Amino acid sequence: MINMPVELCGVKLKNPLIAASGTFGFGREYDELYDISAWGAVSVKGLTDEPRAGNPPPRIAETASGILNSVGLQNPGVGAFIRDELPRLVSRGVAVIANVAGSTAESYTEAVRKLSDAPVAIIELNISCPNVRQGGAQFGASPEEAARVISVVRKVCSRPLMVKLSPNVTDITAIARAAEDAGADAVSLINTVTGMAIDARARRPVLANITGGLSGPAIKPIALRMVWQTAASVRIPVVGMGGIMTGTDAAEFMIAGATAVMVGTANIADVMAGHRILRELGEFLDKNGIEDVSELTGSLILD
Ligand code: FUM
Repeated sequence: MINMPVELCGVKLKNPLIAASGTFGFGREYDELYDISAWGAVSVKGLTDEPRAGNPPPRIAETASGILNSVGLQNPGVGAFIRDELPRLVSRGVAVIANVAGSTAESYTEAVRKLSDAPVAIIELNISCPNVRQGGAQFGASPEEAARVISVVRKVCSRPLMVKLSPNVTDITAIARAAEDAGADAVSLINTVTGMAIDARARRPVLANITGGLSGPAIKPIALRMVWQTAASVRIPVVGMGGIMTGTDAAEFMIAGATAVMVGTANIADVMAGHRILRELGEFLDKNGIEDVSELTGSLILD
């Protein structure tokens, strides 16, 4: 028997696999295809205080070993999420992580305040969306800006606060430490790596927004390195993500220091990725004689 539950900032998850924000919507489509309660938790599409239409199309481009997206935080607004989406997710018995974004510190605060009485397990503060002109990654680009927004949100946040970090910075550990000092209970990383695609025949950018965020296996080595560096720099838990496609990938992120991991682009490439990666992680543990998945966390051997 392998013990799969993990504890993430006081919240018990039935296993360390979390569906990553922006790749799972509100779980509606997946819910029709399989039992979504198999996930340790589901992080929903980034929610803003007011509804957002997002960026014009094209918003997605396939790349070698990855996807570029520039969705622009399309979402129905936090109020509509609480009314129309959350009850179904809760009825499925899956822990819900509300990913919250904003264009100003006040709009983050307002969205988090609206979630105060909602049955969400964790708030994931998204200070790393690379696809919006105002806010998003702006807040995650410097320790000072990160601390400013986190400390005001902390005051109104009644749930564990996890901050989602951008890899598009010189030193992610400085941002992670600022997040910890400002009251974050955990950090999740990495969000997407800013990139672009060009249609050579048309001599035009493929994405209407010109640039987008790269995810998928192409960014896994960058993500692993940042998770390892960050886990060594903060005392709060780290949730790792970036190109996890298999159970062994998930194990690698935990060995690098992650308490739990998020699976994103894999859900788009393989609709059953959640179930498959969970099975593969169990097989990895079994083959390696590991009885508790938490034993992996931070177990990297450096001679
Ligand atoms: O464009 C988007 O909606 C992406 C959001 C994110 O990467 O956080």
